[in-house]
Amino acid sequence: MQLKIDSAASMQQLGLALGQTAFPGGLLLLTGDLGAGKTTLTKGIARALGIRRPIKSPTFTIVREYREGTMPLFHMDMYRLEDGDLSSIDMPGYFAEQGLIVIEWPQFIMDQLPAEFLQLTLKRIDDHWDSTTRTVEFTARGKKNKAWLNQVLQKVKN
Ligand SMILES: Nc1ncnc2c1ncn2[C@@H]1O[C@H](COP(=O)(O)OP(=O)(O)O)[C@@H](O)[C@H]1O
Ligand SMILES: [Mg+2]
Repeated sequence: MQLKIDSAASMQQLGLALGQTAFPGGLLLLTGDLGAGKTTLTKGIARALGIRRPIKSPTFTIVREYREGTMPLFHMDMYRLEDGDLSSIDMPGYFAEQGLIVIEWPQFIMDQLPAEFLQLTLKRIDDHWDSTTRTVEFTARGKKNKAWLNQVLQKVKN
């Protein structure tokens, strides 16, 4: 399943739909190059959860925690974790809190993640520096995530 997104605002709308239908304990993986729109999407998710604090890229901190919304949001960026060493991050603790975990650059730690997740792959389809067109591909593993994806697609189609 693939969607075409033509602006940063539409990417936030997709994030909004993801946040509105997210379930506690959910795991969302965001794959895509620098500037693809992973953090922009996460801003929409945060808005849907009622988080008012601005979402900043967790590139340097690896994890940012937002607990003011309808469920905790744990926003992670594994870009600096190329060696895949997660030992400094309490992943079991985050999973235990039954929030929504959003991971940018999950590819370095895939083997350490649960088998069930929703994954979005964001791509720029036009190399022009100011192009705002992106494609988003969806992969849902497990029943709950397939249901989540269906709800999201319903929302963005309407
Ligand atoms: N369709 C789009 N979707 C997402 N971001 C877009 C889009 N078009 C332009 N942009 C811009 O591209 C940048 C994406 O940055 P960011 O979300 O931080 O990317 P990433 O987290 O994937 O590195 C932002 O400046 C955003 O405004
Ligand atoms: Mg980012």
